[in-house]
Amino acid sequence: MKLWGGRFTKTTDRLVEDFHSSISFDQRLYKQDIEGSIAHARMLTAVGLLTPEEGEKIVEGLKSIRKDIDAGQVTFDIGAEDIHMNVEKLLTERIGDVGKKLHTGRSRNDQVTLDLRLYLKDEINSIKDLLTGLQRVLVDIASEHIDTILPGYTHLQKAQPVTLAHHLLAYFEMFYRDYQRLNDCLERVNILPLGAGALAGTTLPIDRKKVAGELGFKDMSANSLDAVSDRDYVVEFISVASLIMMHLSRFCEELILWSSEEFSFIELDDAYSTGSSMMPQKKNPDVAELVRGKTGRVYGHLMGMLTVMKGLPLAYNKDMQEDKEALFDAVDTVKGCLMVFTPMLATTKFKKDNMRKAADQGFANATDVAEYLVRKGVPFREAHAVVGSLVLHCLKIGKTISQLTLKELQSFSTFFEEDIFDCLSIEACVNGRNLPGGPAPDAVRQALERAKKILDM
Ligand code: ARG
Repeated sequence: MKLWGGRFTKTTDRLVEDFHSSISFDQRLYKQDIEGSIAHARMLTAVGLLTPEEGEKIVEGLKSIRKDIDAGQVTFDIGAEDIHMNVEKLLTERIGDVGKKLHTGRSRNDQVTLDLRLYLKDEINSIKDLLTGLQRVLVDIASEHIDTILPGYTHLQKAQPVTLAHHLLAYFEMFYRDYQRLNDCLERVNILPLGAGALAGTTLPIDRKKVAGELGFKDMSANSLDAVSDRDYVVEFISVASLIMMHLSRFCEELILWSSEEFSFIELDDAYSTGSSMMPQKKNPDVAELVRGKTGRVYGHLMGMLTVMKGLPLAYNKDMQEDKEALFDAVDTVKGCLMVFTPMLATTKFKKDNMRKAADQGFANATDVAEYLVRKGVPFREAHAVVGSLVLHCLKIGKTISQLTLKELQSFSTFFEEDIFDCLSIEACVNGRNLPGGPAPDAVRQALERAKKILDM
C-alpha cells in the first residue's frame, strides 16, 4: 500500500514505478532528509502537535534509521518512490503508528527543496575550501616566479612579455570571483522552505522560525507558492559551477599547450600524466584534457535545468525531480576536477629558461620602442607606424630590434638616441610595466600581498 494509496483502486503499473521513482538517486539526501525531519518533529512537539513521548519516539526512530543507512544496512524500496517516503515507511515499520504523525503540516514538496538546500549549503562550503586550496597553490608558485619572464600572448601570437607570477595570479582573480559568486549563491540557498506545505502552507499552528533556527537557515521563504516551485538556486549554483569549469578548462588548455614540445614551458609530473598504448615515447596531459572535457557536461546541466524549468506553471511539478541528477553531477564534477587539478598544478615543473628564450623572440619589445618614441614627443600613431616598418625591416634581414645599430634605428626616426638600448631588453620591458595590476615584479609583489590577505580572510 502506498503512503498516498487511499483514493486509488489499482496498484501502480510496474513500468511507472520504475519510471517515476527517484530513490535510486535521491537516497544521497538521506542525511539531510533525516536532519530536516528531526527538526520538524521537535517543532511539532514544541507546538503541541506531538506529545513529548511521541516526539521522542520519532526522533529516536529517525536517528536509528540514519545509523543503519550509514552502516549500509538498509535496502530502499523502489515502491516507496523517493527518500522522503522511504524514511517515513521505515520509521513506521520501526516505531509503529506514531511514525504516521511525522508528516503533519508538511509535504514532500517543501521537504524535497529543504533537503536540496541543506545538501547544497554543505557542498558550496566544500567547493569554497577546494577553491581556496587551489588559490594557495597559485600564490605559492607565483611567489617563486616573481622574476620569471615569459611571453604574454594575444590571439596566441607573442604580444608583450609578462612575469609567470602575473600570469598565474590572473587565475587567482578568476577563482576569487568564483568564490565570491558561491558566497552570493549561498545567500539565496540559505532560506528555509519548510512550512510552505504542498503549495499553500497548513492550517496547523507550526513554528517555522524554530525550524529555521534549528537547521541554521538565515531566513525563511516569504511565499509558499514560490518556496515549493523555486529552483533558481539550483540554476544559479550550476551557473557558478560552469564558470569554475570554464576557468579550469582555460587553465588546462594552457597547461596542455605549454607541455607540448613546441612550447616546452612546463613538464607535468609523471603521477599526473599518462602514456599511450601504442607510442612508447608519449607522455600525455590526459588529466588536463579530461578536466577540459568535463566542462561540457556541467554546461549541459545548466542548459538542462533552465529548460526543465522554463514552462512550469506554479507550483510544484514532477518535472522538477529532474533537478537532482543534474545538480549532483555538477557538484561531483566540479569537486572531482578541483581535487585532481590542484595537486597536478602543485607538482608541475616550470621551465624558466625556455620561457625566457621564447620571450626574446617575436618582437615582444616592439610596443616598448613605440612608447620610447612617445616619451620623446612622437604621437603614438606615428610611433606605431615607425616601429611597424622597423619590425618589417628586421624580419627581412633576420635580426631583432636590439641587434640594430643606432644609425640603422635613426634611419627610421631621428628621435632615436643612445638611451633606446636601455629599454630594449626584455627585463626592461617587464620592469617598466610597473603600474597597479601590471606584470612588473614590484607590482606583482603587491598583488601577492593582496592575494595573501584575501586568503587570510
Ligand atoms: N521525488 C520528488 C522530487 O524529487 C519529491 C517531491 C514529490 N512530490 C510530489 N507531490 N510528487 O521532486
